[in-house]
Amino acid sequence: MHKIHHRLNTDHYHIQQLLDCFGYEIDCYDFDSKRSADLEIILSALDYIQTYPEKWHHPAENIIYDRLLKKQVSQSTLIKQLQSEHEKIFQATKKLQEMFDHVAEDCIIPADQLLTRSRDYIQLQSQHVEKENEHIYPLMHTAFSEDEWHEIEDEIKTQNDPLFDIPSKKEYHHLYRHIMDMEKSKQN
Ligand SMILES: [Fe+2]
Ligand SMILES: [Fe+2]
Repeated sequence: MHKIHHRLNTDHYHIQQLLDCFGYEIDCYDFDSKRSADLEIILSALDYIQTYPEKWHHPAENIIYDRLLKKQVSQSTLIKQLQSEHEKIFQATKKLQEMFDHVAEDCIIPADQLLTRSRDYIQLQSQHVEKENEHIYPLMHTAFSEDEWHEIEDEIKTQNDPLFDIPSKKEYHHLYRHIMDMEKSKQN
């Protein structure tokens, strides 16, 4: 597997971990929850999505998807759909961030609105990743030659992941700890 392909795969694994953590905090807005949401974690997760998955992961996929479209692969319709979902996710992240910024400023937003919009968002993101994993990522194994991967590598400027690359950036320390604690508790 080429290192870019490997990186994208790893990103998917991490995005899922991040969404699990985000979902856990969002569940606190459910009427029967005994916990209070950690707003710092929610805002940090959304900030990270805008900083890495939307600045590197999706643009890198778009470059690869354009190349797959040029090859007229049979999954072209789905690829175009995934590219438009990148834009949809970008807008959805922005809106969600605005909503939670308002919460942080003590504006009253009904809990069911926070819950519904956040859960819709998690579903949009998760289903997007699942479609890519199932239908498009396996294509990358066979679609490109070594030379083509070199060209792709020249086009895609790799960037560090500020949350999951160790050590994570200072502003994401709290979020990283939270995600790792959740992962540990899943194993117990
Ligand atoms: Fe994508
Ligand atoms: Fe992806």
